[in-house]
Amino acid sequence: MLRRVFGRRGEFGWQGVIGAAMCLAVSAVAASAQDHVEHDPADIEYGLAVYLAECASCHGEAGDAVAGVDLRSGQLRRGATDRDLIGVIRNGIPGTGMLAFELDAAEMAGIIAYLRNMTYEADAVTLGDAARGRAIFEGRGACLDCHRVGGRGPRAATDLSAVGAERAPSALRRSLLDPTGTMRPIDRPVELVTADGERVTGRRLNEDTYTVQILDDDARLRSFDKADLRELRVLTASPMPAYGDRLDADELADLLAYLVSLKG
Ligand code: HEC
Ligand code: HEC
Repeated sequence: MLRRVFGRRGEFGWQGVIGAAMCLAVSAVAASAQDHVEHDPADIEYGLAVYLAECASCHGEAGDAVAGVDLRSGQLRRGATDRDLIGVIRNGIPGTGMLAFELDAAEMAGIIAYLRNMTYEADAVTLGDAARGRAIFEGRGACLDCHRVGGRGPRAATDLSAVGAERAPSALRRSLLDPTGTMRPIDRPVELVTADGERVTGRRLNEDTYTVQILDDDARLRSFDKADLRELRVLTASPMPAYGDRLDADELADLLAYLVSLKG
């Protein structure tokens, strides 16, 4: 579906070229300033989908359909910084046709990345087909061995049911390619040995100087006084395998599309 969208954007590319030629030097300077903003292609591409769904009805696919506003010019009166842009999108512009939008964190990251890169042409499709991605998630990828989605999967597993609302597509892709590098400290798996020799593995829900609360691998919530433990080890490697070698680029794109679609 996104492939088709990009095909259509190709046609708009010509309008963009003509438009840019007419705007002469001013926009050339703006465009080169914009080029320094690095956004991940996955965020930009997701932002395009959000843009087409939410914004294009008024602003047009090329971003120039509202009189006096050219979203691809790189010169937004009210959008000098990303924070300004977020404010305009969240609050709208009272007294004008610009509505207030309730976007989740991932959609907002996407739309900002896209607005800053509206002239971007994707050469690689980084978001694939969500239905195929779901089949990989539940089948060959065996993600349900360690994750829960919509009540399926082991009870103690990390729940991904809303991960598409909480994380930007680029962050999700990094998690797939480099789980250890992207693991948050609180998510590090722990191994401990109690005073009477019991070995417990799981992940921390909470920790302070004296105590640690653990969800063990059998999904039991357990609390320990650190002083009573014989051993407490926090592992730095994620148990999750890196998928860069296990799945090809199309499969990764499909899986990413599925994760992005998980909105809780
Ligand atoms: C119902 C029509 C409508 C929709 C939908 C809409 N806009 Fe707007 N937008 C407007 C109008 C009209 C203005 C100009 C307001 C003014 O008069 O300053 C505007 C202005 C803006 C501006 C300020 C431009 C500048 O030069 O500072 C930004 C940024 C913007 N819109 C982004 C968005 C985004 C992103 C979306 C989708 C999430 C969106 N708009 C959806 C009508 C719309
Ligand atoms: C052997 C267990 C295991 C398998 C298999 C596994 N994961 Fe994970 N995954 C984890 C654990 C544990 C975490 C949380 C800690 C971390 O980031 O390493 C995690 C984290 C994640 C995150 C980041 C979540 C966040 O909140 O940012 C994503 C996304 C993810 N996994 C997707 C997948 C997908 C998709 C698959 C299948 C292709 C998969 N995982 C397979 C154990 C696993």
